[in-house]
Amino acid sequence: MEKLVIEGGKPLHGTVKISGAKNAALPLIAASLLAPGVHVLHNVPDLRDTRTILRLLESLGLSWEREGTSLRIDGTGLNSSEASYELVKTMRASVLVLGPLLARLGRAKVSLPGGCAIGARPINFHLMGFEQLGVQCDLDSGYVDASIDGRLKGGRVYFDIPSVTGTENLLMAAALADGTTIIKNAAREPEIGNLVDMLVSMGAKIEGKNSDRLEIEGVEQLVAAENTIIPDRIEAGTYAIAVAAAGGDVIIQDCEPEHLPSLVEKLQLAGIGVEIGVDYLHITSKGTDQEIKAVDITTMPYPGYPTDLQAQFMALMTCCHGVSRVHETIFENRFMHVAELQRMGADIQIDGRSAMVKGLVGNMLTGAPVMATDLRASSSLVIAGLAASGRTDISRIYHLERGYEDIVGKLSGLGAVVWKENE
Ligand code: EPZ
Repeated sequence: MEKLVIEGGKPLHGTVKISGAKNAALPLIAASLLAPGVHVLHNVPDLRDTRTILRLLESLGLSWEREGTSLRIDGTGLNSSEASYELVKTMRASVLVLGPLLARLGRAKVSLPGGCAIGARPINFHLMGFEQLGVQCDLDSGYVDASIDGRLKGGRVYFDIPSVTGTENLLMAAALADGTTIIKNAAREPEIGNLVDMLVSMGAKIEGKNSDRLEIEGVEQLVAAENTIIPDRIEAGTYAIAVAAAGGDVIIQDCEPEHLPSLVEKLQLAGIGVEIGVDYLHITSKGTDQEIKAVDITTMPYPGYPTDLQAQFMALMTCCHGVSRVHETIFENRFMHVAELQRMGADIQIDGRSAMVKGLVGNMLTGAPVMATDLRASSSLVIAGLAASGRTDISRIYHLERGYEDIVGKLSGLGAVVWKENE
């Protein structure tokens, strides 16, 4: 296995280009199951997770080829409705094939994803939604075996919690249903709007984009189309927080600032320079040489503060002047990064779903060997390593490579001293 080595304490300067959003690429790649013909997707990041879902589509009979950041996926050859545990266990988002397989074939047998480091992550809302569309869902030896005779029927779906992939799965299932489907308390993340745009370009009839009420009038068939993945707001936010913590002056290019309303607010409250451009964020910070104000965050569904940027902001708050309260409302175990940050000298006390982060006023974090546990926890350790004095070795960086394209190249381009080594 490989580790990431960072010589910290150096400010970041220059421009970093943001890639396409992982959490948009995954549902939009899955949507190519809905129709035969060649789907074209532009601005697709080349990540461990996008390679995983493409392998899953291959196992279902589809073919694809990458041309730079564009993908051509041929949905014609679909010849299976079964997604194996071997593939699904490596990436929970594989459940996104359930909706399109049910819509196109009336059958889907997909391994239950199982939990992951950040929580149990059940899919009961997905299954309840499918049952509202007439699908019979049986659980059998770790698999969901879902089926219906003929087409899905339009129905009414209500999400107790606005599930992101639950909303995406039901959108894809309802697009080919017989009749109209109403989804209430739908999630409103920008990645869902990207999926709505793709489905509409394929001939779907969907009202309520970016709202919590979606109305889908099912059609008989969809056709392949050409679409572009939106910028990755979580990657952009991660780099913005990295500059805030390490200090420097960086343009975060090719991002969508309006997809990060709460982070921009919180960074400005912390005293970080944030200039908002049409497709860039200009971040300036003196890092630990300035008074980084203690700011509380509470994670919420979009447009609230994103849970996927909670660990990263906590790394910044370890160097603040005061005490910051980080409250995690979305996942039950998303503080795996705390123990690793404590190894670097951070003063953090966990109390249930809250963490009290006492800033190390004056002195910085110190580099140390640490271990990545999940995708976003690993990016918070990168931020801590950039801000810390001395060397930080981050092991198990396969977590990081799931969601951050060319992170060594992008950070090196900003003047960071970072490289990979075999463990
Ligand atoms: C999506 O996961 C993202 N993944 C996650 O990003 C993100 O953290 C999460 O949304 C919240 O924003 C992708 O889009 C591929 P949820 P998802 O269903 O859809 C509970 C990353 O780092 N729930 O919105 O799986 C669930 O346990 C990843 O890029 C049920 O109880 O999240 C959680 O507590 C991590 N039953 C809450 O709802 C269900 O059927 C929100 O989960 C579904 C969800």
